[in-house]
Amino acid sequence: MTNTTDQDRVVIFDTTLRDGEQSPGATMTHDEKLEIAGMLDDMGVDIIEAGFPIASEGDFNAVSEIAKNSVNSRICGLARANITDIDRCWEAVKHAAKPRIHTFIGTSPLHRAIPNLTKDAMADKIHETVTHARNLCDNVQWSPMDATRTEWDYLCRVIEIAIKAGASTINIPDTVGYTAPMESAELIKKLIETVPGADEVIFATHCHNDLGMATANSLAAVAGGARQIECTINGLGERAGNTALEEVVMALKVRNDIMPWSTGIDTKKLMNISRRVATVSGFPVQFNKAIVGKNAFAHESGIHQDGMLKNKETFEIMRPEDVGLAGTSLPLGKHSGRAALRDKLEQLGFEVGDNQLKDIFVRFKDLADRKKEVFDDDIIALVRVGDGEDEDDHLQLVSMKVVCGTGGPAEATVEMEIDGKEVSATCEGDGPVDATFRAIRENFPNAAHLELYQVSAVTEGTDAQATVSVRLEEDGIIATGQSANTDTVVASAKAYIHALNRLLVRRGKVGEGADAREISYKDLA
Ligand code: KIV
Ligand code: ZN
Repeated sequence: MTNTTDQDRVVIFDTTLRDGEQSPGATMTHDEKLEIAGMLDDMGVDIIEAGFPIASEGDFNAVSEIAKNSVNSRICGLARANITDIDRCWEAVKHAAKPRIHTFIGTSPLHRAIPNLTKDAMADKIHETVTHARNLCDNVQWSPMDATRTEWDYLCRVIEIAIKAGASTINIPDTVGYTAPMESAELIKKLIETVPGADEVIFATHCHNDLGMATANSLAAVAGGARQIECTINGLGERAGNTALEEVVMALKVRNDIMPWSTGIDTKKLMNISRRVATVSGFPVQFNKAIVGKNAFAHESGIHQDGMLKNKETFEIMRPEDVGLAGTSLPLGKHSGRAALRDKLEQLGFEVGDNQLKDIFVRFKDLADRKKEVFDDDIIALVRVGDGEDEDDHLQLVSMKVVCGTGGPAEATVEMEIDGKEVSATCEGDGPVDATFRAIRENFPNAAHLELYQVSAVTEGTDAQATVSVRLEEDGIIATGQSANTDTVVASAKAYIHALNRLLVRRGKVGEGADAREISYKDLA
């Protein structure tokens, strides 16, 4: 018997695919969005905000497809406060077994000034749009954007209107990450006490991390009576990001003694989804990030290691296994066979089919030839990042040679195949990577601007694989490429070519899935 009631349950609303993905540079492909949505559903996320259907054809298609494939999660789409947005949102989410329309408008004085609406005119608009959404869908969420900077009286007034018009969830966004824990708790508590009908709906908290307080503010809101936390994997999101899902979920689990609320999340799946989101978004997780950072469970200093050996609880408040980190295991090597690799992949939480295993095994053998010991992190990079190549790619790297040293500029010769035609260029540059990128640009002239070039070592040692991320931007369209290789310059070339291939697809110049976003998130009002 458990004495848990609904009042003890906190709904987890994940917005990685909407608020997270709208972060400049974090755009994901259609297939990646579907994959992440599947992982969120599988780990027990109650509500997935799958996108902003009016923003582009790509967003619309992704939300529709996620809705069709959903198993347990409710699928939500975002819509501004107008009929066209709401209709489009409904067209996308209606395929879900459990759909939700989330409509919002900025209610603070600064936000009201953008559409230049009086308080009364905005109140009418809220009534009209929430009523319309409720006529389409029996589950409607309404948000007063920038709620934490909205005048108290007006906030109460518009929330009451939204509840009367049929919203069953009222979300209180701290859009600019301005609030603090005591205020966050107090605001929700007072709203629930004051607004007529508030006890009939669920209050949600949606915090941004500009002052580094998003997790604390979300938990404080729950203490104040909120029962839905809006969050993203790894805290992905614009500026300093959103509340990190893994942080609130683990805080509620580990400190259930003082925060007696539960979630439906299978925490053992946290690590895996964190890595996948980092890879597909091109936003790496900082090493010392709580819960999912590379060092979150590493105890390096002598005194800590000594304590850990005597009793793990000396320095560990949660077990690595609880978040899906496998215990230390033996590395693989060049004599390891396919069965050992399959076994390792299963331990690491990857489900791979026979064809995928065949492909990973070839790359594993290649890596094991170059590297004596292949660690868990190497295998994860092999599966998650890959080498950045696909045989259908428009641009392919054939070979490359780089000469560099102290005597002068570096020189790179890069041979590529572009739609079956071989081209080659030799360029000098300020270091091997610069020379290589110049040669690629000479082979394939383009106007893409390099927004990010990032290298990180997968493991320790001079033979470690490097994971390289490259983000390119052309005419407002962004694409990220990645590659992992023991040779940092080869990984860089492949990541750059990968990003170019994805940019071509996004711009609709080749392949399917062009996703030029018609509405900038900056236009939200
Ligand atoms: O931060 C915010 O205000 C939002 C709204 C659209 C809910 O993301
Ligand atoms: Zn937000």
